[in-house]
Amino acid sequence: MRKKVTVVGAGNVGANCALRIAGKELADVVLVDVVEGVPQGKGLDILESGPVEGYDVAITGANDYEPTANSDIVIITAGFPRKPGMSRDDLLLANYEVVKTATEQAVKYSPDSILILVTNPLDAMCWTAQQISRFSKNRVIGMAGVLDTARFRTFISQELDVSVENITALVLGGHGDTMVPLVRLVTVGGIPLTELLDQAAIDRLVQRTRDGGAEIVRYLKTGSAYYAPSAATVEMVESILKDKKKVLPCAALLEGEYGISGLFVGVPVKLGARGIEKIYELKLTADEKAMLDKSAAAVQELVDVIKQKMG
Ligand code: APR
Repeated sequence: MRKKVTVVGAGNVGANCALRIAGKELADVVLVDVVEGVPQGKGLDILESGPVEGYDVAITGANDYEPTANSDIVIITAGFPRKPGMSRDDLLLANYEVVKTATEQAVKYSPDSILILVTNPLDAMCWTAQQISRFSKNRVIGMAGVLDTARFRTFISQELDVSVENITALVLGGHGDTMVPLVRLVTVGGIPLTELLDQAAIDRLVQRTRDGGAEIVRYLKTGSAYYAPSAATVEMVESILKDKKKVLPCAALLEGEYGISGLFVGVPVKLGARGIEKIYELKLTADEKAMLDKSAAAVQELVDVIKQKMG
């Protein structure tokens, strides 16, 4: 049986998700966007790369959700990206409306799907999608930690001039300025990072990771990152569709884990055919726990604004 993935939002992140899914032959893809012609045009263009690239999947575009019926996964990237000077949180109310509509429509046609949220502010958009869909918590997942961790790994690799493949790291917390890179657990070919860099250098890399999205926005000026975000999203898609059971940091609905309840926050999870198959609860130091609490409080503030809006 062929797998099917819907990508809502055929903009920069969405189109690159479609391209990467096709390139890996993970599934047939339906791109959905409000702008007439864009999902159809980009879908056809990606399809026409198939003969050259050597992939064979169906890619279509639509302005409505009927063609998305019975998708295994729905990726929601629809919404507005950041401009210079904006935080992810500045997007809250505009993107709330977009994610609400996208979720309603997507789950109407694919009631058994797994939702992967990419739209920012990420953790609050996950909460919105879960409230609207009423899906069980294993089927609503946010993409943030894989991206933040990839950025952290990139910066460490540059600093030490070693292969990025050697570096394992874990970034917890909300997808924002309060994210929590767990420095103590970072290893470089099995060597703890703390053996290789002094505290000042580590602090600098942590700060650059926290500002990783803003750094790209400052360069691009008219939008935000999309190559690494789409790569991170598709790693999650692959783990689910192939039931690989990768352990990845993702935004998950916590119900008491880490002392947090009713909020989506980035934590290590096992991603398999059933979506989030396990949430790993690590023993944190007092400092790490304080940072995670601060991050969760920032997510809570945004969720409170949405709750007020929902009435
Ligand atoms: N339904 C479907 N598509 C929509 C809707 C909607 N209600 N509203 C907007 N869109 C589409 C836009 O037409 C656009 O094609 O979402 C797309 C967004 O694409 P871009 O503007 O290129 O933004 P992108 O860089 O892809 O970022 C999308 O992902 O990383 C996050 O912060 C980022 O929230 C942003 C999202």
